[in-house]
Amino acid sequence: MNKGFTVWFTGLPGTGKSTISHLLEKKLKEQGRNVEILDGDVVRKNLCQGLGFSKNDRDIDIQRIAFVCKLLTRNGVAVISAAMSPYREARDKARKEIGSFVEIYVKRPLEICAERDVKGLHKKAIEGEIEGFTGVSGPYEEPLNPELIIETDKETVEESTNKVLKRLTELGYINPKESATHVYSPEEEEKIKERLSRLGYI
Ligand code: ADX
Repeated sequence: MNKGFTVWFTGLPGTGKSTISHLLEKKLKEQGRNVEILDGDVVRKNLCQGLGFSKNDRDIDIQRIAFVCKLLTRNGVAVISAAMSPYREARDKARKEIGSFVEIYVKRPLEICAERDVKGLHKKAIEGEIEGFTGVSGPYEEPLNPELIIETDKETVEESTNKVLKRLTELGYINPKESATHVYSPEEEEKIKERLSRLGYI
């Protein structure tokens, strides 16, 4: 059986946790891994239906996610959790419970998250319409010692995902040979195409 692990993404709303999770899922599946994603929004529609955004409700939400992560991790699954999880104590509890835990801080300046504002919630929060909106009117406690920090305003989704794979390899959770398949960023791809075209290959 493969060694299970949980990649625990944490960060403000709108940093790209879900997007990276889906590319990571694809790449891990390509390596033959069984993968499950526990996405904050999806979890709130089923496992945590009815819970709100008070500290107490968020703690329950994270506890339930951590419990499922634990069950899957001990059965060899590559688990990805993508919930904001703004409270350090809740994340530390999850780490203790799960064991094979890789905390990844997905960082992006608040202004850029607010610009993207897919759900229109940042605007409302800034206008004072949402109480306790993480990063605007509610706390976000940065990880003190995460296994990895990715900065999604400076990297492509591909680059961030590759960093995660590299870290998982270093930590011994995935096979170095399988994760060594380099995937080029759009910029690298362009450069390669230019070079090939100059040489008359394409
Ligand atoms: S967590 O705190 O319990 O980890 P979770 O990841 O499930 O949060 O939250 C998912 C989404 O809830 C956010 O991306 C955001 O769109 C929405 N949301 C609704 N109300 C709030 C709020 N008060 N603070 C932050 N996000 C909120």
